[in-house]
Amino acid sequence: MNRKIFIPLFASLLIIWSVVAGQKNSSSAFIKENVKFAAEQYSLQTALIEEMGEVKNPKTFINGEIRYIRPQEWTSGFFPGSMWYLFELTGDEKWKSLGTKYTEAIEEVKNLTSHHDVGFMIGCSFGNALRLTGNERYKDVIVQAAKSLSTRYRPNAGIIQSWNVTGGWQAERGWECPVIIDNMMNLELLFEATRLSGDSSFYDIAISHADKTIEHHFRDDYTTWHVIDYSLEDGSIRNKHTAQGFSHESTWARGQSWGIYGYVVCYRETGDVKYLEQAKKAFEAVASHINMPEDKIPYWDYDAPNIPHALRDVSSAAIMASALYELATYENREYYKGWADEIMESLASPVYRAKVGENGNFLLKHSVGSIPHGSEIDVPLNYADYYFLEALKRKRDLEK
Ligand code: GLY
Repeated sequence: MNRKIFIPLFASLLIIWSVVAGQKNSSSAFIKENVKFAAEQYSLQTALIEEMGEVKNPKTFINGEIRYIRPQEWTSGFFPGSMWYLFELTGDEKWKSLGTKYTEAIEEVKNLTSHHDVGFMIGCSFGNALRLTGNERYKDVIVQAAKSLSTRYRPNAGIIQSWNVTGGWQAERGWECPVIIDNMMNLELLFEATRLSGDSSFYDIAISHADKTIEHHFRDDYTTWHVIDYSLEDGSIRNKHTAQGFSHESTWARGQSWGIYGYVVCYRETGDVKYLEQAKKAFEAVASHINMPEDKIPYWDYDAPNIPHALRDVSSAAIMASALYELATYENREYYKGWADEIMESLASPVYRAKVGENGNFLLKHSVGSIPHGSEIDVPLNYADYYFLEALKRKRDLEK
């Protein structure tokens, strides 16, 4: 090759190589630093629990107090699940043994039929435990949990009923069969149960639920209604409401993230591109939303009053980041990964990430449980942490 061409060409390649290598290094430093932080913070959390001498399940930190929950509470799978991600991210056996202990402590959830969240609860705990240990016994727990969840399937409407309407605040809303967009997250358990048991009825229920949700939960612009109330008799729609959002016609941020994540899972499990399209469109609806903040951490509702002074919901950002890393493995890698990376940069900044020993030993600050219920407002939440760790792990895998 002519020296006049070779030298500039070589120099350009060298520059490109050093830029790419530099990016890789800074990204692996990012992952390393966040994993170190998470392990330190959760070591404090678990040391506190171990000192108490009983298995506790921390959910949040309010008014200076760590709140622990019972196994039946919808978020009970996230803390055990975080142990498994820490095991995966650090390779430290300590997290495996804690993961085993905290996971097995919620085994009774496999028989829970009083609400739909058994998918989350058993999937994040026993699902990860099975994936990382191969313990055969966990298969039975997952299949039993899928059986319990399936009892909530309402054939005339083709969906899984999310909440009962005979007690609590749900009884006051006049609903017959409420289904919330969050319910998309419970389908992963059903797909897994069919794989483990060979019983296709779980798969069929998941597909029916996903298809009905496409039909009824999405507006023309692909934002979502939080609650769809079906008739149990003929599946017709009685109400399109909100429970945790600002208004019936607004877009509750975490609900939209659940929807995006749920359809990414449906695509992974079925290979049906209609689910991939749904995930992409649901994401685009908020990616291009006029109220998506510059740092990409959503307000608690995309139509909240007082924007730009409305509260953010960090949990919705962490869920979305994790979903986008998986989406990036299917197509348009740079775009979806780029978005997820920006979310993660924000979450790991001092604005949203706690300091070691603060924040009730949770990782992330500034999540919102439910503003309409006056509950868990601007606090850490165990599911924000769980999806942050899952996203970190997915980022690491993508960059390997
Ligand atoms: N699934 C309940 C929530 O996201 O708040």
